[in-house]
Amino acid sequence: MSQPRHTLLERLRRYQPDHIAAVESEAQGRLTRLVGMTLEAVGLNVSVGHQCEVISTDQRRIEAEVVGFAGEKVFLMPIQRIDGVSPGARVMPVARQRGMRIGAGLLGRVIDGLGEPLDGRGPITGENFLEFAPERINPLHRHPISEPLDVGIRAINTLLTVGRGQRLGLFAGSGVGKSVLMGMMTRFTTADIVIVGLVGERGREVKEFIDHILGPQGLSRSVVVAAPADDAPLMRLRASQLATRIAEHFRDAGKNVLLLMDSLTRYAQAQREVSLAIGEPPATKGYPPSVFAKIPQLVERAGNAAAGEGSITAFYTVLTEGDDLQDPIADAARAILDGHVVLSRRLAEEGIYPAVDIEASISRAMPNVVAESHLGHAQRFKQLLARYEQNRDLINIGAYTPGADPDTDAALERISHLKAFIRQGLDHPVSFADGLRQLETVIMPGPATQVRPPPGSEEA
Ligand SMILES: Nc1ncnc2c1ncn2[C@@H]1O[C@H](COP(=O)(O)OP(=O)(O)O)[C@@H](O)[C@H]1O
Ligand SMILES: [Mg+2]
Repeated sequence: MSQPRHTLLERLRRYQPDHIAAVESEAQGRLTRLVGMTLEAVGLNVSVGHQCEVISTDQRRIEAEVVGFAGEKVFLMPIQRIDGVSPGARVMPVARQRGMRIGAGLLGRVIDGLGEPLDGRGPITGENFLEFAPERINPLHRHPISEPLDVGIRAINTLLTVGRGQRLGLFAGSGVGKSVLMGMMTRFTTADIVIVGLVGERGREVKEFIDHILGPQGLSRSVVVAAPADDAPLMRLRASQLATRIAEHFRDAGKNVLLLMDSLTRYAQAQREVSLAIGEPPATKGYPPSVFAKIPQLVERAGNAAAGEGSITAFYTVLTEGDDLQDPIADAARAILDGHVVLSRRLAEEGIYPAVDIEASISRAMPNVVAESHLGHAQRFKQLLARYEQNRDLINIGAYTPGADPDTDAALERISHLKAFIRQGLDHPVSFADGLRQLETVIMPGPATQVRPPPGSEEA
């Protein structure tokens, strides 16, 4: 009977667990090939997801992650720039646990996907150590979504109420107001803490968001994890994961966290770059199948914890270029999220900001988190708006005769107020309770003269 053969490392792992870290880092490999962004190495005893360091000719340590293998060859992708790497360079597995310090001091900081500060305000300090490896929550132990979260945006609070622990998409083309809306939510929400992931945008946009849209007030209650478009794709993936990981940490500390991820589309594109680079064939519109497995892996981590603990309510932005509803990422996102807020270019062009397209948006958690009467008022609002939209062409050419349909009359009478209700000034938070009262007023039956535009709608 032949004994199974174990490698030296496996035997050491079993009999000398305390020494394995030291030995493992000695188990070096060599770089054999570099194509595009993919490194190939031999002589490594590592598994997928393992961190390694490639030693450059000038002795810099370049961090890389194992992303695949073929036979004896191991494929790695760098997290940082790879200039200075030569054939035969040493590749060393990293044995230490990856992580960062975390605590209340993280609030107001801007960090990269490795947890390193980007804001020039010194090292990150904190009482605790956060391991980057994600945790898993048994879906059966999750507390159901039962309470609303006030995001400070009137149209969302009243008509598309968000539940604590809900995951929503924010669907829009570029320049329709996603960033501005996220900034308003950061400043206005009653959540305890806001984690903002900025992934794959241009560097200039990241700066603009932090300096002008969030401002000192928004930044002071949030943590920003940023990986702009010129970062390596793995760094962009890391930033999305780290933002989620930090949200998990604060949720487990009992906080109600709002996680804003901009954007899920860029996250998927970073994953596509990685998968294509290691030879996975593209399937749907250039996206390899693994991309569609990675999206739920990220999104499923948000949500509620067990009863009594905190929550992660999350918004993921999804780019819908040219209003392409067939976009595979938009499709995948719609299927796994519990609702979506659609921003419409037509409304933005009319000057209605935030440009929330009420008819196209839905919050699936809303019926579980609001009172029956609230739901009724919201339905009435949507009905009036829909009636106006259906007859808009007739009305605009003067072909609609008042009196022909009572609902259309009611809609026509109130339309300017309905639109004003959706509008909200950049620096004008509207609480959940105030928004609800204003909703009752705008749908109230009676002559239009009794209906005044809601405050904060910035209507002249
Ligand atoms: N609430 C708002 N009020 C006034 N203007 C807005 C508002 N939201 C967006 N805008 C205008 O739209 C532009 C683009 O918004 P932004 O949030 O950067 O879009 P996106 O992130 O979707 O590309 C802003 O620079 C601003 O001019
Ligand atoms: Mg933006």
